[in-house]
Amino acid sequence: MCEVIMESSIAHEIFSHACELIISVGDYVRGAAKSKICTESKECFADLVTEHDQNAEKMLVTNLTSKYPDHRFIAEEMNSDGVSCQFLDDPTWIIDPIDGTTNFVHGFPSYSISVGFYVKKEPVFGIVYDIDNDKMYSAIKGEGAFCNGRVIKCSTTADLKNALIGSEFGSQRDEVFLQFKIDSMSRVVRKCHGIRSTGSAALQICGVAAGYLDAYYEAGPHIWDFAAAQLIALEAGAVVSSLNGGPFDIRSRKILVACNSTIAGQLSPLIGDFELTYD
Ligand code: IPD
Ligand code: CA
Repeated sequence: MCEVIMESSIAHEIFSHACELIISVGDYVRGAAKSKICTESKECFADLVTEHDQNAEKMLVTNLTSKYPDHRFIAEEMNSDGVSCQFLDDPTWIIDPIDGTTNFVHGFPSYSISVGFYVKKEPVFGIVYDIDNDKMYSAIKGEGAFCNGRVIKCSTTADLKNALIGSEFGSQRDEVFLQFKIDSMSRVVRKCHGIRSTGSAALQICGVAAGYLDAYYEAGPHIWDFAAAQLIALEAGAVVSSLNGGPFDIRSRKILVACNSTIAGQLSPLIGDFELTYD
């Protein structure tokens, strides 16, 4: 029998509070998108951050800390050095205040707030808010996946040749890494209807959950990019694994999410694998 990691009524109460908070932070980000946005770069010139990423994260963390003082946080802007990013058994919020910062900066309407809540390193709930399209994807473990309160399910596509796949180049510009991505996409696109790169890992995974993508894969995203969305996809019926089809490790920065094991099995050998040498 499955261990109950948190009493259902408590999980629901925390979930409701988080949904309300995320909507109000989403309002802030939507408003900020209309103003002039100044950008800075992080690891590489294409890895962007803005004051609005930082403000949105502060709004989330400050509110949740005052309500739940014992909870821990892994959040992109305070943990992007990788050093302070310990994932322990305590109740932990895993937050990306804006997933798809490059889209946000360019006004491309696909960026989200991603909030996963974990206890004993197991997901309790996940929320991904598609800010520009006002779509709230969510799942509480064991209760199915939803978009704006309506049940969502993965597609039933049974053959890769009929599939639409999501994948991303990401923001690293390392030559070898980029070549791996190009080669991998080149092998995949020959065998499917198409590949879409829409710039938010969390929303791509929710796309698999909602059935408009049949799979998504990427090497490079961090724990905060998929902590919430992977549960939403699982609850919608997806299979979640590492790129090679092996067990998914949330810290590994590699993910393959597919509508079913047949698509995962056809896709995985085409993707190949990449030894990530950076944290
Ligand atoms: C990025 C986006 C992008 C993905 C990158 C992520 P950020 O997150 O999800 O789609 O390709 O790997 O780092 O930087 O916009 O939060
Ligand atoms: Ca981000």
